[in-house]
Amino acid sequence: MKITFLGHACFLLEHSQTKVLIDPYLTGNPLAGAEADRVEADFILVSHGHHDHVGDAVSIAKRTGAVLCSTVEVSRELFSGEGLKTLAGNIGGTMQTSFGSVKLVPAQHGSGVPGGLACGFVVEMEGRKVYHAGDTGLFADMQLLKGEELDAALLPIGDFYTMGPADAVKAVDMIRPKLAIPMHFNTFPAIKQDPVKFKRSVEELDLCRVVILEPGQSFEL
Ligand code: NI
Ligand code: MN
Repeated sequence: MKITFLGHACFLLEHSQTKVLIDPYLTGNPLAGAEADRVEADFILVSHGHHDHVGDAVSIAKRTGAVLCSTVEVSRELFSGEGLKTLAGNIGGTMQTSFGSVKLVPAQHGSGVPGGLACGFVVEMEGRKVYHAGDTGLFADMQLLKGEELDAALLPIGDFYTMGPADAVKAVDMIRPKLAIPMHFNTFPAIKQDPVKFKRSVEELDLCRVVILEPGQSFEL
């Protein structure tokens, strides 16, 4: 699986013919790793309704015909009545897809939609499993993700809106993925962080490997 970081919380997961785009905040993102009108996608996962996660989801879905995946209330509020293809499950549920599956997992964060829930995703694609945490604070149930035997965890480290670097290290300790990739930092002044410090802390504790991706950079999992 190829993982490409497109800035902030946006990642593109690719395998064979399938492209899964997550939280496509590109237009207006000062550190975007791609242009919204050039990104290809078969599925677009949206963790919650805040603008820095919904981003260009609707325009990319209209152009590409991609299926928009999120929790039910978020989907109803943001993606209904637009003639868009949607797949809306809820926390704890796994949605089977043409490429594998997407499990919606808890995130401690506002959804941006009345009554809605923010989520994270466990994406399984041809034998590889990746956790995208969405926006979240640290919470003890993250330890349940250890049982998923994750190949990679994409974790916010920006602080202010989500967990910061110290809590993200604790998250890695609970989740124990094979690889951690930091996200949701440096896009705005409030979330300025040094990802190298996070990497050092995780590696000093010998928890897992950390790869820091610049916007536009890819990693072959
Ligand atoms: Ni948010
Ligand atoms: Mn955010």
